[in-house]
Amino acid sequence: MIKSSKIIIVAMTEQFLIGAAGEIPWQIPEELRLFRDLTSAHTLIMGRHTFASIGRPLPDRRTIVVSRHLSKTPGIEICPNLPSAVQLAENYGEKIFFAGGVGIYRDALPLADLMSISWVKGAYTGDTYFPAFDLSQWQVISDRDYGSFRHVLYRRC
Ligand SMILES: NC(=O)c1ccc[n+]([C@@H]2O[C@H](COP(=O)([O-])OP(=O)(O)OC[C@H]3O[C@@H](n4cnc5c(N)ncnc54)[C@H](OP(=O)(O)O)[C@@H]3O)[C@@H](O)[C@H]2O)c1
Repeated sequence: MIKSSKIIIVAMTEQFLIGAAGEIPWQIPEELRLFRDLTSAHTLIMGRHTFASIGRPLPDRRTIVVSRHLSKTPGIEICPNLPSAVQLAENYGEKIFFAGGVGIYRDALPLADLMSISWVKGAYTGDTYFPAFDLSQWQVISDRDYGSFRHVLYRRC
């Protein structure tokens, strides 16, 4: 079997802020379109709260929710931990996107080959932060300014 690419995908501020009261702290339609374009036809792995905030399986993508408490839900697959979610996702042979929140990012950091970060500009408040990590271990592959955010793709050094 060909090994699937494993990609962390996140939008965050310079302070690593990713969430506020269960939601995304900003509304940036262009960033959402970029998320859609990058992840369509691939597999998303996300935590239970992130799935609840989206409220439905996103179209044109496979969704695996990591949860020990969620009951069977149409349109998604549920795994009790990240390793079992990755094992399931590997069967599909598509790119695997780790789509948050904190526990998913924390456990995915040692596994990911790539990181897709939208660095959101501006001052926002919130309560949920991407886990601390060493950015010097990641090499920039592409960097594009979209105005309200800058999208940088990193590969593990
Ligand atoms: N800016 C962004 O790119 C971005 C991306 C994603 C999310 N967010 C924001 O982040 C917030 C939600 O994130 P969150 O960290 O609070 O919640 P979350 O990770 O989405 O969900 C937490 C729940 O998911 C399960 N879970 C997550 N990681 C796990 C792991 N490694 N192993 C086992 N179970 C795991 C557990 O469910 P059970 O209790 O059922 O076992 C846990 O209680 C929201 O504000 C959301 O909008 C932002």
